[in-house]
Amino acid sequence: MKKKWIITGCAVVAVALLILGGTRMYQKPLKVLADNDDVYIGSSIRYEPLTDNPVYREIAVTEFSTWTPENAMKMNALQPVRGQFEFEEADTIVAMAEEHGIRVRGHTLVWGESLPGWVHEQAVDAASAKQILKEHIQQVVSHYRGKVDAWDVVNEAWNEDGTLRDTIWLRTIGPEYIPLAFQWTHEADPEAELYYNDFENEVSNSKSEAMLQALTEWKEQGVPIDGIGMQMHLDAADPRFSPTAIEEQFNRFAEAGFLVAVTEMDVKLQNLHSDNPAEVQARRFDKVLEICLKTPSCREYTVWGIKDDVSWVTQQESPEGRPLLFDELGEPKEAYHRLKRTLLF
Ligand code: G3I
Repeated sequence: MKKKWIITGCAVVAVALLILGGTRMYQKPLKVLADNDDVYIGSSIRYEPLTDNPVYREIAVTEFSTWTPENAMKMNALQPVRGQFEFEEADTIVAMAEEHGIRVRGHTLVWGESLPGWVHEQAVDAASAKQILKEHIQQVVSHYRGKVDAWDVVNEAWNEDGTLRDTIWLRTIGPEYIPLAFQWTHEADPEAELYYNDFENEVSNSKSEAMLQALTEWKEQGVPIDGIGMQMHLDAADPRFSPTAIEEQFNRFAEAGFLVAVTEMDVKLQNLHSDNPAEVQARRFDKVLEICLKTPSCREYTVWGIKDDVSWVTQQESPEGRPLLFDELGEPKEAYHRLKRTLLF
């Protein structure tokens, strides 16, 4: 009888220790819990709130192991006047990241948007456009060599129907602006991981099929394309959300020889009519993290913002969007807690 009590007592103590240990572990930030999975957990970062909002800065430094400058490394920010590079704001973000041992993803070298006005005036044919683009890429990538671990080299180059987007770069140089951009970036920093980045490429559709075929052909020709960024700007009201289809796409990109990264995840709520919007949002954040953790070539899971009031969705679409892990006061939401449980177990 006494032996039975001793065994029971030991079992109770063991369970109590397990719960205590799990509770203590659960209180650790996202990046600590993700350490064992060899996945960067990141966020986009804006210069203003990082430097003047203590709540924003504390979350950014404590929770995340990789930062993506949300706007400070775009062409209109870095080269507002031809030949005059403004690195100060991006340098501040990079320096603070380095100070806290946080990795940096550069965003973005070549895009059809957020361009300074002079580009449209001076990129008038293939020769002038190539000169402008090569100069920009090599000045910026050289400046951040050894400080930026991965680059979104080309961003959002395809349309929904699988044709290439009509940008200044396509109009002047043609489709080869994409492989040229990767080659110029690699020349400037052979160590950096080079990604193509886009939205609505997380499942098979006309856009993602055209993108994958072109990137695969270029890669087979020796163009240094290391990975594909899936932005994951999701709408909680979208009935088509399918973890199965997303997992299949992660595996297809990996089988084609690409690293994959979730680069800009957010889950907007403004269109959702649900009794429990927080649960719907949490599940979508969580399912994508589960897929990333299951995919060996998924190196990164980055959300597009720290807190709801500092989000492109809230500022450019709807105050009801509330698409992120922390609310406007910096309080963690259900989605944040769900990610921690997935990382813990
Ligand atoms: O900071 C200024 C502010 O001082 C000024 O009063 C205000 C009004 O002009 O503009 C503010 O800058 C805006 C900035 O966001 C910060 O809010 C820019 O005009 C605006 O163009 C910029 O929009 C960014 C957008 O990309 C275009 O570059 C968003 O923040 C950013 O979240 C969004 O991110 C993109 C990715 O780069 C690519 N994938 C899609 C994603 C969402 O659109």
